[in-house]
Amino acid sequence: MRYKSQSVAYWYFALALVLFGLQLVFGLLSASKYLGPDPLLNLLPFDVTKTIHTNLLIVWVLTGFMGATYWIISDESRSELYSVKLAYIQLVIWAIMGVTAVIGYLFGYGTGNKLLEQPLPHKIAIVVCMLIFLYNIVMTIRQSGRFTTTEGVLLLGLGSSAVLYLPALLSWENYVIAIYYRWWTIHLWVEGVWEMIQGSFLAYLLIRLSGADREVLEKWLYVIVGLVFIAGILGTAHHYYWVGVPHYWLPLGGFFSALEPVALVGMAMYAYFSIRRGGVRHPNVLALHWTIGSALFTLFGAGLLGLAHTFPSINKWTHGTLITAMHGHAAFYGAYAMIVMAVISYALPTLTKNRNMEGSAVGYWAFWLQMGGMFGMTLSFATAGIGQVYLERVLGIGYLDVQLKIQIHFVMLIITASMFAIGVLLFIYDFFRHAPRLEPIDEAELFPDTPPLRGPSHFQAGRTGDGRLNEQTG
Ligand code: HEM
Ligand code: HEM
Ligand SMILES: [Fe+2]
Repeated sequence: MRYKSQSVAYWYFALALVLFGLQLVFGLLSASKYLGPDPLLNLLPFDVTKTIHTNLLIVWVLTGFMGATYWIISDESRSELYSVKLAYIQLVIWAIMGVTAVIGYLFGYGTGNKLLEQPLPHKIAIVVCMLIFLYNIVMTIRQSGRFTTTEGVLLLGLGSSAVLYLPALLSWENYVIAIYYRWWTIHLWVEGVWEMIQGSFLAYLLIRLSGADREVLEKWLYVIVGLVFIAGILGTAHHYYWVGVPHYWLPLGGFFSALEPVALVGMAMYAYFSIRRGGVRHPNVLALHWTIGSALFTLFGAGLLGLAHTFPSINKWTHGTLITAMHGHAAFYGAYAMIVMAVISYALPTLTKNRNMEGSAVGYWAFWLQMGGMFGMTLSFATAGIGQVYLERVLGIGYLDVQLKIQIHFVMLIITASMFAIGVLLFIYDFFRHAPRLEPIDEAELFPDTPPLRGPSHFQAGRTGDGRLNEQTG
């Protein structure tokens, strides 16, 4: 932590992790309802627990993005944040919004638009937070005078995320129109602009963890952004197959969404080759696990398992079944949960006190239990989904009869999800067991074995001998 104001990231990460833990409670509740009988049916029905589960996911991941951005922007621009006060005001509004939204869902207060259930006052609070956030980031970059490619892509991702939330503020009577615009937010977030956020976090981490050159790594970032744009935008059509819009969306959706995994292959190769070619230069091997893990798990969960049901000829059988849940879990976890945990793991040794740089044994247990647990959960949803599609859609057996026949897969889901949840609890425990550090300290001062970033030391504010700004350094 080179700048005092980077400590705001700690409080964002802390809130994100508490909400992550709560998300899992509602996930386990949702899963156990599949086994029935449900003693909480009248108090907490499935639609309520699932809404809270998925909304907490969106809120904690965005909280993680905000914390990670505040951390990264200072490092990249080599400057204190423009306003620490604004960052805390934003956090307080955000936390109140998130907590009251969940309380509202408990009483059925929401719009019913999947993943965008937030009532209008909460949506307005979200917009206000985003505006404060973007203002603070832009002003930090302006005051520092240093603007890197990594920051450019990050800003593009964050700014577009805010703009793409605007369609969610409108409401339509007609369900076809409502669902048509819902994907402008949801699909274009997770398969478009959030991938830019993930890509820029990856670039930031790889520049620091591997020995590869910033110039080379940042050039590839442009390629990834280009691929995301080409495939992701028209790929939205893979949600338009059966919602009551014209037929021409079928071939468009099939073709462009099938191209989407190319960007994800690019991202995984990017991570792999930067380590192969550049080697590991930084002792924080735990953060490296999360970084490479995120790129690979995204390729599996989003690329492979997304492709598995994206063609109309397959999606007509699998649409809205547990196959969707299989892909939703693996993709969201790999791309967004893991990249947030990667930035947290990278920041922790200097963001908190009395840690070693390599990561703790608890930290490694957290990583591997989550890996095994999420892989098992994905397989449980997949086997349940395959059974469901065959029995319900091919043989035409009724929905509830089928649910009884596939219950065994939910036993497997709960076992693997419990393993996953222990991994998450260990991550949370590892985070909170050391006090936050509120004063800046340099990595090299705290851990003398850490080699400085390439080129002249970044402790000289990144200037070369003749005073020019050196883009090679961190
Ligand atoms: C203890 C761990 C978890 C359990 C037991 C669990 C369980 C569930 C269940 C039962 C559903 C409802 C599926 C349906 O509609 O039939 C669900 C939905 C969902 N969960 Fe989880 N979950 C867990 C963790 C996670 C994590 C870590 C993520 C993401 C990082 C996640 C993302 C989602 C998403 C995106 C949906 C909506 C999927 C859809 O509607 O197709 N869950 N979860
Ligand atoms: C990180 C990237 C991704 C994430 C986080 C993600 C997440 C999700 C989630 C949560 C859903 C359920 C949405 C809902 O029903 O409300 C979904 C649906 C879907 N995703 Fe993805 N996805 C990603 C990438 C991809 C890619 C690259 C493809 C295709 C190659 C894909 C194909 C699909 C399809 C076809 C559906 C609709 C399933 C249905 O018809 O029920 N996804 N995705
Ligand atoms: Fe999509």
